[in-house]
Amino acid sequence: MNSSSPAAVIVLAAGAGTRMKSSLPKVLHTIGGRSLVGHALDAAVNLNPEHLVAVVRHERERVVEHLLAHNHNLIIADQDEIPGTGRAVELGLEAIGSVSGTVVVTYGDVPLLTPETLSALVAEHQNAGNSVTVLSANVPDATGYGRIVRDENGLVTQIVEHKDALQIAEETGDSTLVDITEINSGIYAFDGEMLARSLVEVTTDNVQGEKYLTDVLGLAREAGGRVATYVTDDLMEVEGVNDRVQLATLGAELNRRIAERWMRSGVTIIDPSTTWIDVDVELAQDVTIKPNTQLHGNTTVATGSTIGPDTTLNDVEVGENATVRRTEATQAIIGPESNVGPFTYIRPGTVLGERGKIGAFYETKNVNIGRGAKLSHLGYVGDADIGENSNIGCGNITANYDGVNKHRTVIGAEVRTGSNTVFTAPVEIGDGAYTAAGAIVRKNVPPGALSMNAMDQRIIEDWVLERRAGSAAAEAAQKARDKS
Ligand code: UD1
Ligand code: CA
Repeated sequence: MNSSSPAAVIVLAAGAGTRMKSSLPKVLHTIGGRSLVGHALDAAVNLNPEHLVAVVRHERERVVEHLLAHNHNLIIADQDEIPGTGRAVELGLEAIGSVSGTVVVTYGDVPLLTPETLSALVAEHQNAGNSVTVLSANVPDATGYGRIVRDENGLVTQIVEHKDALQIAEETGDSTLVDITEINSGIYAFDGEMLARSLVEVTTDNVQGEKYLTDVLGLAREAGGRVATYVTDDLMEVEGVNDRVQLATLGAELNRRIAERWMRSGVTIIDPSTTWIDVDVELAQDVTIKPNTQLHGNTTVATGSTIGPDTTLNDVEVGENATVRRTEATQAIIGPESNVGPFTYIRPGTVLGERGKIGAFYETKNVNIGRGAKLSHLGYVGDADIGENSNIGCGNITANYDGVNKHRTVIGAEVRTGSNTVFTAPVEIGDGAYTAAGAIVRKNVPPGALSMNAMDQRIIEDWVLERRAGSAAAEAAQKARDKS
């Protein structure tokens, strides 16, 4: 089936989202690392529409700022005080000017709708020559949804809102409408000219006093147009977020779908239910993800690498065949064949070279670590350069902050530093230099030199026996003395 790009997609995002009970506008809540409305815009953009419009009202400034940051070509339409989806679409159309061709309407709070389903809706609409094509679904519980009403030939005649169906049942004693299980998802393809003409005629004469977009269906039929549905079996795709329970449900479902997609493309995920992967993450074939791992933002992992367990990566690039376990890392590059963790905290600006290592209980920030260099255990390195194959001893620290400014430590290649070395930045250590255990490096160390501090070790005989007389230590000391 061929179809042409729609003239416009109008994304409705004017609603208040009261049930979220949140100071954050509903459509700005995120799942999979992207806002709800961001998901809606991305699906819409995929249709390659001539115009992309978002209709806003509630928390207008905040929502618009987010929308334009997400998509700067977006047309913003402001809804006025007349409520209803029909009014929202009417103002969306006005913002474009005149429109001919297909107009698609979607919601800013329906995040799992895929570009594939939207394209299929548009294709069906155009190929069948419909005036209106409604994306519908058969659901176990239709409460709250508009019901799809068909005539004896199965053709769609109208959509009756839940509250109106209830009122009719009350007045007539006939609950036929309430019992209909085929519901309106709220996503449609329309003939644009018919839509614009019809919306002028739609009134607010209903239980909710709103201008219903669904009233366009009857007007389209009166004008001789064909109204039909495109039925989807995937109920999650048309589900909206109204509260935080639905936010979590749809977030988990999105995650399940993302994990499944990566597994099908050759990624091993030991426990998909405890693995959270944002939509923009990229994983290569033969990556292994162990349990309790979160991959966020623009994180990428190259082939052969193992991430986790218990690891969180935010905007991190991991090279091939690396191992990263029990680690939290943000805005960092972890080189190929390198080894990170366990219990490692990697902060922004850390670049670990090929075959490098950042071991247990290390914190790093803004540091370039050369190929094959190792920071094996217990320490902090910030604002530093470490050359190739240098071995940074246990407990080393860069004292990079003088209380006012940050300073750099520059360590050359093939350097060996003794345990508990403190680098008082700014300071430079030449290639192949050594530092002694406990060294405090305040002055630059030339290549090949040993840096140590003359701190004599004093022995005060019998100190414990005299000053801690009667203690367990004194007793043990006395026994040792008696033996010798
Ligand atoms: C609407 C449909 C209903 C459908 C349901 C699917 C109408 C009259 N009814 O119900 O048939 O089953 O969606 O969820 O269209 N919005 C605006 N401006 C408004 C009102 C709503 O932009 O004045 C936006 C909301 O932000 C939301 C979407 O439209 O994204 C749907 O609004 P909501 O109030 O949830 O839907 P209903 O009107 O109850
Ligand atoms: Ca709704």
